[in-house]
Amino acid sequence: MILNNKKIVLGVTGGIAAYKALELARLFIKNEAEVWPIMTKASANFITPLSMQTIARNPVSQDMFDLTLEAKISHIELAEKADLIVIAPATANIIGKISSGIADDLLTTVIMATKSPVLFAPAMNSNMYENKIVQQNIERLKKIGYCFIGPDEGELACGYEGRGRLASLEDIIDAAEECLAPKDLKGQKVLVTAGPTREAIDPVRFISNPSSGKMGYAIAKAAKRRGAEVVLVSGPSYLSPPRGITFVKTITAEEMAEATMRHYPQSTIVIMAAAVSDYRPKISHRRKVKKEETRLNIELERTQDILKELGNRKRGQFLVGFALETEDMLTNARKKLKEKKLDLIVANDPSSFDGETTRVTVVEKDDMVEELPPLSKNEVAERILDKVVRTISA
Ligand code: CTP
Repeated sequence: MILNNKKIVLGVTGGIAAYKALELARLFIKNEAEVWPIMTKASANFITPLSMQTIARNPVSQDMFDLTLEAKISHIELAEKADLIVIAPATANIIGKISSGIADDLLTTVIMATKSPVLFAPAMNSNMYENKIVQQNIERLKKIGYCFIGPDEGELACGYEGRGRLASLEDIIDAAEECLAPKDLKGQKVLVTAGPTREAIDPVRFISNPSSGKMGYAIAKAAKRRGAEVVLVSGPSYLSPPRGITFVKTITAEEMAEATMRHYPQSTIVIMAAAVSDYRPKISHRRKVKKEETRLNIELERTQDILKELGNRKRGQFLVGFALETEDMLTNARKKLKEKKLDLIVANDPSSFDGETTRVTVVEKDDMVEELPPLSKNEVAERILDKVVRTISA
């Protein structure tokens, strides 16, 4: 949604990773952005302007002195209309040129003439990337305020193994969103918990729940995008740890409690999205429990209510909880808000546990209630943070 209706000038330079720029253009469009491609002469050796134009749904600009195109959309107009310029792949050559103030073709001229953020996604041979001149150019551009994503480490098209692969397209999209996001959480230290916990019965069995961690991860990523320093304490999840945040992996409720308490004093905003197990087996067997003829009784004991403890230890932190309810949602959410001394609670039902979308009701301390329509978890994350920002800056 951050990319929605945004005008992205996508600069493609001449490297083998240029073929990935086609898929990147498609992803920007899928995220409802407008794509205005600029291809350098060298890039046209790797992909055709026709492919790019068809996917981007806008004319490909290539030549400074193309009279027809220049009459339709001038290079100054491109520089001005862009909400963001993304160079993917960015070769050592384009990085060097921009860092030295050279504007000798359409792409370099547009970058020079823009006041919008510029994101470079470098891709090149690893020796080239490690070259001191390239490194100095990148440092210089970063210092001035240009953004960079990647390159990643791995197998390179030239047969080398090392740092030089174009960052994953997902990471480039995330970085583009970060460039465009408001930085209204700058200076805040946000602690987020996510995912389920696992309580072992024996080495091969555990008590858990179907939480995927998607909601908490979406909140952590959104908070990072908006400028916060983020710690994500996660139970077992198949999701990849988001870039640029402190990631703490936990398994049991006890481990999650320990990690959360450790980071709590330094935090200014805490969002407890984890589905913490309320019970654990009183005895966790060291050996696999063999099956009985009829039944097996497992005695359970309570785990700590982490959020309640955070409420009791509150020293000015803004505390957000979730309430998972199958009935009397609002009554129960209000009760939890009070009992756990929260500033805001997000109530939902179990239907959204593993899905991409969710339907939540947000209740604030002053009893303001807002029922949100079904939305993606990313969108819900933004809405929750909007409310947090509005309250803390009131
Ligand atoms: N929570 C927690 N520690 C627990 C259980 C829950 O910190 N041991 C947190 C959850 O992360 C969530 C909030 O408390 O933010 C509410 O969790 P929920 O499962 O909805 O409710 P419970 O407090 O466990 O109460 P109940 O299961 O009776 O509804």
